[in-house]
Amino acid sequence: MLVLKNLTVSASNKVILKNLNFEFKKNKVYAIMGPNGSGKSTLAYAISGHPAYRLDKDAKIIFNKNDISALPPDKRAKQGVFLSFQTPLSLSGVTVFQLLRLALSGIKDPLIVKQEIDRLAKKLHIKEELLSRSLNDNASGGEKKKLELIQAVLLDPKFLIFDEIDTGVDIDALKAIAKFLDGFKKERTIVLITHYNRILKYIKPDRVLVMLGGRIVKEGDYRLAEFIEKNGYEKYRS
Ligand SMILES: Nc1ncnc2c1ncn2[C@@H]1O[C@H](COP(=O)(O)OP(=O)(O)OP(=O)(O)O)[C@@H](O)[C@H]1O
Ligand SMILES: [Mg+2]
Repeated sequence: MLVLKNLTVSASNKVILKNLNFEFKKNKVYAIMGPNGSGKSTLAYAISGHPAYRLDKDAKIIFNKNDISALPPDKRAKQGVFLSFQTPLSLSGVTVFQLLRLALSGIKDPLIVKQEIDRLAKKLHIKEELLSRSLNDNASGGEKKKLELIQAVLLDPKFLIFDEIDTGVDIDALKAIAKFLDGFKKERTIVLITHYNRILKYIKPDRVLVMLGGRIVKEGDYRLAEFIEKNGYEKYRS
């Protein structure tokens, strides 16, 4: 599904990711863990095409056999790559419905977009009043994460990265989000960047990756996440 080849990435002339080689497969859920500043969000940005992150000339990102390394973010999104931000952006004057109607114009009937948003909002216990406000304007941390999930579902991507979707959400919302993603994973690839094990209880990852200093230093099954929760990253620091 998505292959990283010699992925070395810099920002502001500083090398952040160091030669990552990995293949994310279809129908699999991945968890990426790692201490603060280890490069997890940078990896998410590099995959989604954020212009601040520059790939080395030998670095490649291959998505469904196409080299997307040089494509701008909107083209990658059109091919089915979705990133949910660690800190979701606010959009003044635009509601989630207006944004999605625009993104899906010619693809989905606006009436259906509206119905699906309402259906998901109910499932995630999002207040109706929040949907009529500008996107993420004065929304709480947890509300923003839920709105990210609504966008993910409506846009129907194939490769989804959630950067700390579990941070700042209450326990009921966490369960709802994880259960929802579990039902959504078929024919897709889901990557959960997380510091905690708790979301992984409701959506079990097939593989867990540990990042440290811009490298993938360990890969394992869900037990690796349990090990880290108990023991931290000390073992991998040498
Ligand atoms: N645009 C940038 N310019 C310069 N340095 C950056 C930039 N983006 C990230 N970095 C640096 O790269 C390193 C990795 O940052 P990144 O945000 O990827 O870490 P992270 O693993 O997501 O951490 P956290 O768990 O705290 O979210 C950090 O040292 C950070 O300061
Ligand atoms: Mg981060």
